[in-house]
Amino acid sequence: MVIDIHSHIIPEIDDGATSWEECFEMCDLAWKDGVRTIVATPHAFNGVYGHEGQDITAEIKFLNEKLKERAIGLSVVAGAEVHSRPDIPELLEKDISLTLNSNGHYFLLEFPHTTIPPNVKNLIFQLTLKRFIPIIVHPERNTYLQNHLDEFESFVDQGAMCQVTAMSITGRFGKKAEEASLELLDRDLIHFIASDTHSIKARPPVLSEAYKKVTSLVGEEKAKEIFETNPDRAIKGLL
Ligand SMILES: [Fe+2]
Repeated sequence: MVIDIHSHIIPEIDDGATSWEECFEMCDLAWKDGVRTIVATPHAFNGVYGHEGQDITAEIKFLNEKLKERAIGLSVVAGAEVHSRPDIPELLEKDISLTLNSNGHYFLLEFPHTTIPPNVKNLIFQLTLKRFIPIIVHPERNTYLQNHLDEFESFVDQGAMCQVTAMSITGRFGKKAEEASLELLDRDLIHFIASDTHSIKARPPVLSEAYKKVTSLVGEEKAKEIFETNPDRAIKGLL
């Protein structure tokens, strides 16, 4: 069962869906593409949008009801894309709704686009001490990490996990992101591939193309692990 752990489908909370209608269309497209569960992960603490870990339970409930009415079988659970800051361990302890499906363990960790924060290793250490598992999102699109994949590998060795964007694998985020994502795949450093969908057209919730490409490159078993098994463990909070 394909699970998409990273999406911006809740309208008017960040730079994702602009209306409930667009949100429903995105969910319909994800469902038709083969996705069975999607995690709504609005940006949190990134300094641009107002979302500072606000409760989205009501929106998720509303959305699941609307999907049922429209006979769209997709199920939606809550999460967040947490921008890196030194006090993340304390923030997560205070508010587990920042973790995927409020499971208290896995969460999406976002770095800036061109750099990495200072003391990443210390942050990962502090997080894992408290049994939080940072899933570093789209390292292949970070212009610093694109040229420092060995450094990224050391974060994974320390206990961080890695989520690559589907459109990077298929080349739609440019050559650099594609090359970095394929190198990560080759080094067996990718744990998740997600859509990071923001809209119905420019960044749609489509995983099937990337699933196909990953299958052709590293085989069916690995692809299943990346698109199905690992996401299932992450939303269930299984360590
Ligand atoms: Fe995102």
